[in-house]
Amino acid sequence: MVLNINVKETMATRARYNRIAPLYDFMETLAERRYRNWRQRVWSLVEGPKVLEVGVGTGKNMPYYPPGVQVTGVDLSEKMLLRARRRAERMGLSVALLQMDAQVLDFPDDTFDSAVATFVFCSVPDPVRGLREMARVVRPGGRIVLLEHVRAEHPLLGRLMDLLDPLVARLMGPHINRETVENVRRAGLTLERVEDVGMGGIFKLIVAKI
Ligand SMILES: C[S@@+](CC[C@H](N)C(=O)[O-])C[C@H]1O[C@@H](n2cnc3c(N)ncnc32)[C@H](O)[C@@H]1O
Repeated sequence: MVLNINVKETMATRARYNRIAPLYDFMETLAERRYRNWRQRVWSLVEGPKVLEVGVGTGKNMPYYPPGVQVTGVDLSEKMLLRARRRAERMGLSVALLQMDAQVLDFPDDTFDSAVATFVFCSVPDPVRGLREMARVVRPGGRIVLLEHVRAEHPLLGRLMDLLDPLVARLMGPHINRETVENVRRAGLTLERVEDVGMGGIFKLIVAKI
């Protein structure tokens, strides 16, 4: 079977996140103050019991998991996952944490009631493919909830993001000019709502229905 994954870019993404894993939580300290409310809002929209978190990272969403849900968290980077495991242990949470590529999810169709990703589709090499995979593993009637930063709609700012993107992606991992709302449409998902949550629409809460 030919999978058509950009292996080189996927391995480079994994290496970048492995490299920044020890610093990730520290680097995000200030931004996290702003993200807290958004994370709460994301998880208030999630219906269980079976929930997939794609790109679980160091487990920053764990404090917001609603009671009674069974979360499976996947990530490309084993070093980010190591930190997620430690966080789950500290919190006494039972979460299945697996190393997996969002572009090729190793779950049967309709496995989950909902799927969540926060600040992930800026980094997945083929975001449309990753979104299709998420839709495949969520049952009909289930929801996908995303929190993402996207390319600015303001023409000059958008252009500046395009110019800076190669450097930021190389140093840090994420692409700053992804058009994730469009990518959700391209993946064939039905948008339930798109909310501008911060920075003039750069941060968006995106909800899609399967
Ligand atoms: C910016 S971090 C966000 C982590 C976490 N979701 C949060 O809100 O803090 C992006 C995460 O996506 C993961 N990631 C990137 N590409 C991926 C892929 N193809 N499959 C699974 N995880 C991926 C990275 O390893 C990293 O942990």
